[in-house]
Amino acid sequence: MNPFRALFFSLIFISLALTNVRCFGPDGRVGQASVLIGSNLYFFGGNTMNPRFTDQVIYLNLSSSFNILSPPWNPIATSPIPILLNSAVPCLSTDKSTVYLVGGMSQNQQNSSILMIPQSSVYAFNTNNLSWTTPNIDGFNSTFLGRADMNGVADSNGNCYSFGGFFEHLTAASSSITYNDTNIFDTKAMRWLTRTLPNTPLSRVLYSAVLKDNLIFYIGGLGDTGNTTFDMNKIPIFDIVNLKWLSMTTRGDPIGSRFGHSAVLTQDGLILIYGGSGISGSSNVQVQPDVATLDVSTTPYIWKAIITDKAPRPLMYHSATLFGIYMIIAFGSVVPQPASSKLALNNNLYIFNAQNYSWVNTFDVLNIHGSNSTNSDSSSLGVKIGTSIGVVIFVGIIAVVGFFFYKKFRNHKSVPIATPGTLSYK
Ligand SMILES: *[C@@H]1O[C@H](CO)[C@@H](O)[C@H](O)[C@H]1NC(C)=O
Ligand SMILES: *[C@@H]1O[C@H](CO)[C@@H](O)[C@H](O)[C@H]1NC(C)=O
Ligand SMILES: *[C@@H]1O[C@H](CO)[C@@H](O)[C@H](O)[C@H]1NC(C)=O
Ligand SMILES: *[C@@H]1O[C@H](CO)[C@@H](O)[C@H](O)[C@H]1NC(C)=O
Ligand SMILES: *[C@@H]1O[C@H](CO)[C@@H](O)[C@H](O)[C@H]1NC(C)=O
Ligand SMILES: *[C@@H]1O[C@H](CO)[C@@H](O)[C@H](O)[C@H]1NC(C)=O
Ligand SMILES: *[C@@H]1O[C@H](CO)[C@@H](O)[C@H](O)[C@H]1NC(C)=O
Ligand SMILES: *[C@@H]1O[C@H](CO)[C@@H](O)[C@H](O)[C@H]1NC(C)=O
Repeated sequence: MNPFRALFFSLIFISLALTNVRCFGPDGRVGQASVLIGSNLYFFGGNTMNPRFTDQVIYLNLSSSFNILSPPWNPIATSPIPILLNSAVPCLSTDKSTVYLVGGMSQNQQNSSILMIPQSSVYAFNTNNLSWTTPNIDGFNSTFLGRADMNGVADSNGNCYSFGGFFEHLTAASSSITYNDTNIFDTKAMRWLTRTLPNTPLSRVLYSAVLKDNLIFYIGGLGDTGNTTFDMNKIPIFDIVNLKWLSMTTRGDPIGSRFGHSAVLTQDGLILIYGGSGISGSSNVQVQPDVATLDVSTTPYIWKAIITDKAPRPLMYHSATLFGIYMIIAFGSVVPQPASSKLALNNNLYIFNAQNYSWVNTFDVLNIHGSNSTNSDSSSLGVKIGTSIGVVIFVGIIAVVGFFFYKKFRNHKSVPIATPGTLSYK
């Protein structure tokens, strides 16, 4: 080997080693449960198609600035979920010490085509000592074992609400079930309530849910035949004080019906939705607009389409979390999916500034409260920007080197066979 080649390969090894130390890059996935605790954004489980469900626990550290090309991902490799788990709902205790994973489907460890019902009512993760327990819940409804495709919201009293959901048939002889019950998990008293209430909306899955002023707003989703979306102009609402279902109409801009989208409540009190998929025949199709706000402070509510540039590839089944003014979008699947596979997994991170409605490349920790914030800690920002530029350069080296290797070996690459995800409903 000549000295230049030797130098070249040493450089590759050094940068590989440094990159591995500095940035852990998780695989793309859908069906992850995400929850923000302090400045750590946790993700539990999901379907990575590698070969299928995962038990991984990872988090994004939001305590310093970063570029979306090098997000500060961290694995919690020592404390995976006790089972492989997809599509669980996360419920956070009021003291934020414990995340309860409710529902979700599991699979056989050896054979990913065999679905398995979780054995424990919930799996509880202690964020202080990173340990898992399986607490007993008074009155737990066993129809929740294996139930997926729901969304949950927790109130400030430690009650976690979930509606509907989907149970996938495990054998050819059994059938799938789509639910329309209202479930309340009281994480303080460790008590479970299942209610069948008047004016309950139709069975629905893969909707988004947002809590504001003691009302939970349910937006979009799929109906129980798996091929019907809901009118975005009729919003079912659950009143958590009076335990009553209500409904409201909307006006404003036309908003395409969708499922697998996300919704967050902005600091301005607006519901901000992003992404999702529409249905045309039996195909998933991109929806318009990809970003919209719903103002629920006047009746009827008002939809407003948000036109943005530099939008990411259209996503569904992603996670969206508001942190200050930033909506952080992680994982999900690109819409429309290629015909050969049911999912085209995304492992990029995207950030939307929910104050001035723009897609940004930088998470600026000094700007998380928006343009009016008066933090003057600029010296440490310099250090942090310096560090992240360093990381970007290493990533750049790997990308260039990786590209050559990819070109060289692409003809030898076998096409991975996609395992269908349970989130591709029906
Ligand atoms: C998050 O990052 C900050 C600054 O980079 C570091 O001090 C802190 O220990 C990290 N926290 C966790 C939980 O990784
Ligand atoms: C996995 O399970 C499926 C369904 O029961 C079965 O058809 C298949 O042969 C199994 N594969 C292996 C490698 O055991
Ligand atoms: C972790 O903390 C919880 C709550 O304080 C406690 O019940 C549990 O025993 C602890 N687990 C370990 C392994 O220390
Ligand atoms: C559990 O949920 C199922 C489905 O909604 C319902 O039929 C059943 O009555 C519930 N059981 C209890 C004990 O609440
Ligand atoms: C709710 O589900 C039950 C059981 O599947 C069904 O009998 C009932 O008609 C459903 N109600 C609505 C409003 O969808
Ligand atoms: C939706 O699915 C149902 C039940 O599988 C079927 O009867 C109906 O024709 C389908 N509708 C459309 C629009 O494909
Ligand atoms: C939005 O605000 C960020 C900083 O807060 C700024 O960098 C960006 O240019 C703004 N975008 C628009 C479209 O105003
Ligand atoms: C920033 O200041 C302007 C003018 O004082 C005010 O209208 C706006 O609501 C403030 N925004 C935030 C996020 O505090």
